[in-house]
Order: sequence, then C-alpha cells, then structure tokens
Amino acid sequence: MSLGPLAVMAPGRIGRLLIKNRLIRAATSETMATDQGEATDDLVRLYSDLALGGAGLIITGHIYVEPRGKYEPRQLGLDHDSRIAPLARVTEAVHRYDGLIFAELSHAGSQSLIRISCRWHRPSFPTLFSRASRPKCPMPTRRK
Ligand SMILES: Cc1cc2nc3c(=O)[nH]c(=O)nc-3n(C[C@H](O)[C@H](O)[C@H](O)COP(=O)(O)O)c2cc1C
Repeated sequence: MSLGPLAVMAPGRIGRLLIKNRLIRAATSETMATDQGEATDDLVRLYSDLALGGAGLIITGHIYVEPRGKYEPRQLGLDHDSRIAPLARVTEAVHRYDGLIFAELSHAGSQSLIRISCRWHRPSFPTLFSRASRPKCPMPTRRK
C-alpha cells in the first residue's frame, strides 16, 4: 500500500515505539556540551527547536560513556550520574513537542581523544605501547 507523497508525515513504528512522523534527525554531534560533557542551555534550545520544527525522532550526537572513549572536546557525556539531570532537560524539551529521542551511546575506540599534560591527543598505541616499552606484568600465581 502506498502512502502517497506525504508518506513522510505518516506515523511510523520502530519496534513498539510509535513515531508521529518519519522525520528523523540523524545523529549529529553538536559539541555544545560543557567541558565535563553536560548538556547546556544552548543544546536544550537546539533540540527543542528541532522538535518544534516537526522532527518525530531525534538521535542525539554520540555520547561517551567512559572518559577514555571521548571523541572530541565539548562532546556530550554520560560517564557520571551528574550528567543525567542536564541531559534529561534535553529529553523533556523534545517530549514537550511530542517528539521522541534516542541516546547514541558510544566509545570512540581508536578514535578517542586522550589528555596528556593538559593537551588533547589522539591515541597512538603502537608508539605508546611498543614491544620495548610495554610494561612487564608479573604472571599471576596460583593459590594453593
Ligand atoms: C557534523 C556531523 C556530525 C556527525 N555526528 C555524528 C554522530 O555523533 N554520530 C553518528 O552516528 N553520526 C554522526 N554523523 C553522521 C550523520 O549522522 C549521517 O550519518 C551522515 O551525515 C550521512 O547522512 P546522509 O547520508 O543523510 O548524508 C555526523 C555527521 C556530521 C556531518
């Protein structure tokens, strides 16, 4: 069955979730969080505007769940309970306009940004952990 030219405005389903339309904002990292990864007023405003503009579903930008998995400065984080309340304001703003929101949880792996001596670096494991410099760990001994 064809929904016609306005199919994008017809409700859609993802599993048990009913979405008011098929306008989905793809995950897009805004880098508008605080240095600690907490949502800011600007971020709340942006998501509120997207929902008010009609997005049925918004996927957040990637949210690091572990500081070593951070990808970029001012990225949203959920590595500590204190980040929940600021992010909940984003969710509430989207729900106010009948929008839904998915949190994209992430760990950037080899693309992570790490901080050494107050400077941001991309990990360089072959150098940092070359065979010669790899720390020697004692073999675990068996308990008797
Ligand atoms: C500035 C920018 C930030 C993005 N951030 C994320 C992100 O945080 N997570 C993610 O999964 N994709 C991210 N993407 C990828 C987009 O979600 C999307 O997949 C990509 O732009 C291709 O979409 P298109 O095929 O509609 O052009 C980002 C893209 C751009 C341009």
